[in-house]
Amino acid sequence: MSGHAPVAIVTGAGGAIGGAICRTLANRSGHLVVATFRPGGNAPTVAAPGLTVQPLDVRDGGAVAELVDRVMREHGRIDVLVNNAGVCRWGDPDAWRHTFDVNLFGAVELSHAVTAPMRRRGAGSIVNISSQAARVPERGNAAYCAAKAALVMFTRVCALELADSGVRVNAVSPGPVDTAMLRRSARTAAQAAGCTEAEVLAGYAASTAARRLLAPEEIAAAVEFLISDAASGITGADIPVTLGATTW
Ligand SMILES: NC(=O)c1ccc[n+]([C@@H]2O[C@H](COP(=O)([O-])OP(=O)(O)OC[C@H]3O[C@@H](n4cnc5c(N)ncnc54)[C@H](O)[C@@H]3O)[C@@H](O)[C@H]2O)c1
Repeated sequence: MSGHAPVAIVTGAGGAIGGAICRTLANRSGHLVVATFRPGGNAPTVAAPGLTVQPLDVRDGGAVAELVDRVMREHGRIDVLVNNAGVCRWGDPDAWRHTFDVNLFGAVELSHAVTAPMRRRGAGSIVNISSQAARVPERGNAAYCAAKAALVMFTRVCALELADSGVRVNAVSPGPVDTAMLRRSARTAAQAAGCTEAEVLAGYAASTAARRLLAPEEIAAAVEFLISDAASGITGADIPVTLGATTW
């Protein structure tokens, strides 16, 4: 990496998975991390040397361009982008536009913004956090399943178009991870089914071959691998980190 610490932008860093990705990249793989979070949302609680925190609504194209310009001015490079920001409005049939705006168009906006500097350097790595829901249909969650499936195809097309420039683009598709998002979904599902949140969470755990929920750090480890030189041969991939789950 020519003597400079690699620079990573991670979106949605106020959530558990985003926080774990920031911690892993900053503490274990020596990245300067720009941890972004939704204005008005939870700010990241991660503190690590070389980690800075910035508000960013991924739906705001102007703010995205400004952030990328600022990172380029301050660090002169962007090595990694992790599109992790996401919303899951399970059981809300009006959620299509919001769900696509954050999960798909937010990632599109950021990917376009970092592509020019990455192309100029002839190197870079983008990881999109999709979901098992991209492959396994979930009742009551059409918008999320469709947006995450679109994100995987976006990943594959970007990988194809950027391969010549040395930029790799991959996805990670988690199964059920114990985070605020999963607990919110479990609460809504419990109300709909007339059971308890704990019972729904136990059902999510039982849907995996290992019969437990994933930890955010297990998703971060897959991201860390994909952006590392060890994964230099991998682009256009969608890595399932699901503990063998085949249903929700
Ligand atoms: N938890 C799971 O079981 C699970 C499973 C599969 C995929 N995922 C995906 O993993 C990612 C992280 O999810 P999580 O479980 O940590 O959820 P979370 O809700 O804890 O975190 C998501 C983060 O995205 C942020 N966000 C929402 N809208 C935003 C916007 N407009 N601009 C910027 N940030 C915004 C939120 O503020 C939040 O901090 C998401 O993309 C999610 O879809 C989660």
